[in-house]
Amino acid sequence: MYADARAVRHPGDPLWQIPASGAARFSWEYDDGRDRLLALYQKGKDKQWDGQKRIDWDLEVDPHDALGTPDESMTLYGTPHWAKMTDRDKGELRKHYASWQFSQFLHGEQGAMVCAARIVESVPDLDAKFYSATQTMDEARHAEIYARFLQEKIGMLYPINDNLRSLLGDTLRDSRWDMPYLGMQVLIEGLALAAFGMIRDTTDKPLPKQILAYVMQDEARHVAFGRMALRDYYTQLSDAELREREEFVIEGCYLMRDRLRGVEVLENFGIPKAEAEEYSEQSEFLRLFRQLLFSRIVPCVKDIGLWGERLQQAYVDMGVFEMGDSNLDLLMAQDEEVAERLDAERFAAEEKERVAEVEEMIEKGEGS
Ligand SMILES: [Fe+2]
Ligand SMILES: [Fe+2]
Repeated sequence: MYADARAVRHPGDPLWQIPASGAARFSWEYDDGRDRLLALYQKGKDKQWDGQKRIDWDLEVDPHDALGTPDESMTLYGTPHWAKMTDRDKGELRKHYASWQFSQFLHGEQGAMVCAARIVESVPDLDAKFYSATQTMDEARHAEIYARFLQEKIGMLYPINDNLRSLLGDTLRDSRWDMPYLGMQVLIEGLALAAFGMIRDTTDKPLPKQILAYVMQDEARHVAFGRMALRDYYTQLSDAELREREEFVIEGCYLMRDRLRGVEVLENFGIPKAEAEEYSEQSEFLRLFRQLLFSRIVPCVKDIGLWGERLQQAYVDMGVFEMGDSNLDLLMAQDEEVAERLDAERFAAEEKERVAEVEEMIEKGEGS
């Protein structure tokens, strides 16, 4: 069994070091910003929010059913292991999955913060540095929120998945300034955004719903930034340079699809790795989940001009090629709307409560 329930500390070495390569760049052109990017920077400043205040941390969470996951969507459902499990075991399994999932979000957010800071350092244009500085702050706030959720509400932390770690390492070891964009903004954030969205739209638990909706409101800007910067830059690259980027994307996509599915959770429940992998492969729910994970990456990759034959073929093989046609701007606008609507609903509910309290006080006052 994996570490005990109070283990919100990271198991193993708590520090990971990646030697930096590549240049830090200054730009002395202070008056040459692109309007679109500066508008996004302004929005980034206007829309900062504080997770300590905006999120209702008093909401209770049952760590053994943090997301309200139905039995049928558990990987082990329908296997001989499931039949042998008591309700208590199933609760424990749910807790591990929630911890695994949100721990990957947390590590990913820290990765995003480090990559955004790297972009501030290495990108040649000042307007992009400005924007990325706001993103660095956004990602710090996201990491803070996920860490608090895991510590206070779940009580368990999983280490970073080996493959996510290796993709993050490759992204940061590369000296070309566009690689943190491609590895983080396009691949890892695209994947995370799709996962956030699926949980946001299916969970019936109010606290994780708030967290995901508000985090996604920020992520919509991040994806827009990555698209703008890379679309401009990739028109200037040679075919050979573009093909290198495509290879990186293809490899990253296969890695994330096949190796990021929580097999380590099942191993912690005593199921051998090969068997755990087979269950993950067979699970109808996971199959659908893995396809939907690409709903944000594929249209983005197409939009920035990485749409060579090999990449198209890879997406055909993965069964996600058609996703290239989905409208990213629309998805992003919806993400912003969902967060705004949630704010409005919460505000209306609070207002109603306040009115009821006042009425009650008046009534009591009249009676006395
Ligand atoms: Fe984030
Ligand atoms: Fe982000």
